[in-house]
Amino acid sequence: MHFFEIVGGNRLKGAIPISGAKNSALPIMAASILMDGETILHNVPDLADVRQLQILLSRLGVKAHRDEEGALHLRVEDEMNVHAEYELVSKMRASVCVMGPLLAKRKRAQVSMPGGCAIGSRPIDLHIHGLETLGADFELANGDVLLRAKKLTGTDIFLGGAFGSSVTATANVLMAATLATGRTVIGSAACEPEITDLGEFLNKCGARITGHGTPQITIDGVERLEGKEHHVIPDRIEAGTHMIAAAITNGDVELTGARIDHLQAVVDRLRRVGVIVERDEKGIAVSSSRRLEPIEATTQPYPGFPTDLQAQLMTLLCLADGNSVITEKVFPDRFLHVGELNRMGARLRKEGPTVIIEGVKRLIGAQVMASDLRASAALILAGLVGKGTTRVHRAYHIDRGYERIEEKLSAVGANIRRLDE
Ligand code: EPZ
Repeated sequence: MHFFEIVGGNRLKGAIPISGAKNSALPIMAASILMDGETILHNVPDLADVRQLQILLSRLGVKAHRDEEGALHLRVEDEMNVHAEYELVSKMRASVCVMGPLLAKRKRAQVSMPGGCAIGSRPIDLHIHGLETLGADFELANGDVLLRAKKLTGTDIFLGGAFGSSVTATANVLMAATLATGRTVIGSAACEPEITDLGEFLNKCGARITGHGTPQITIDGVERLEGKEHHVIPDRIEAGTHMIAAAITNGDVELTGARIDHLQAVVDRLRRVGVIVERDEKGIAVSSSRRLEPIEATTQPYPGFPTDLQAQLMTLLCLADGNSVITEKVFPDRFLHVGELNRMGARLRKEGPTVIIEGVKRLIGAQVMASDLRASAALILAGLVGKGTTRVHRAYHIDRGYERIEEKLSAVGANIRRLDE
């Protein structure tokens, strides 16, 4: 098992290339189940989660390979198997994205319930509500969701839940509706850029979708879809993570390929902290050479502040001049990083879905344990400024969502190594 060893204190300077978006690539890869012919995806990041979904897709009869330029080619070769098994889904909840495409194209799906994970319970009631409303029969058997439908019929579907919209539920229903008969209107749809990217890809393949990226998406069903080429959008969460790495080290970094229009809430909060963030012709330039101001932040569905950057922002605010407050409105239990940051000298106090962050002068390097993907990134950020050496154990959490993070950070001056336990 690998861990990261970081010696804190270096200011980051230089350019970090931003990879393709994990949370766009995954549903678009699942959408290949819908396609006749070959789908070719460019800018798909080389991540554990992507490789995991490739394994599941191959079990479902979708052959996938990377060409010499790194483009991912996908083609349906066998439509017999519709079972996404527990041993695969339990490793990666985004596997649930195969449910809509399997139901629409093969008229049946058997997907293991994802269960809980480090950031909280991961219910799929909205996914099932949406697919049932399209006409699927639903049954729960031995922890698997069984869905069948002779045909899917377009209709109005409200997808809002107790925490607002659902990204992957929107993706599942959107993909299923492309092959339904008639018009589907999804209300309270997720507006994340990854949904917009999925809609753009599906339209290239012959779907008839409007409103993707807004809370109301309209889909007019078609007979069939033809795989096409697509370039996946850059990863706004990776970009946001490295923006905070630049800020926390008082560095000066250019995030090449990042799209500032996908990060408006993050730019807003960082500017209030006193970080300089500018759009430039290659992406986003971030610099910070002064004390950090304390702020309030609340995570919301897009375009609000993303829950996937909550832990990273918390790490930055540990060093602000005063008390900050972060409230987590999407995954209220997503605070496993709090205990680990306190072991590094942070002063964090959790009050339900809110954490009070008392600014301290410095963090002290320590041995810490990664838990969820983004909390692990936050611990690496803490190590970049922690006095002395920090070891972040269970590096595999990071490898799920960040491509070669130690190489990208070393290239701009961080003292970080990947070692074997
Ligand atoms: C997506 O997960 C992302 N994953 C997550 O990123 C991200 O944290 C999350 O959206 C929120 O932005 C992918 O896109 C692969 P949700 P998803 O359904 O779709 C509740 C990362 O680090 N809910 O938008 O599973 C749910 O409990 C990962 O890259 C229901 O109640 O999240 C949560 O409170 C972590 N019923 C809220 O909605 C449902 O049927 C938002 O969840 C579905 C969700």
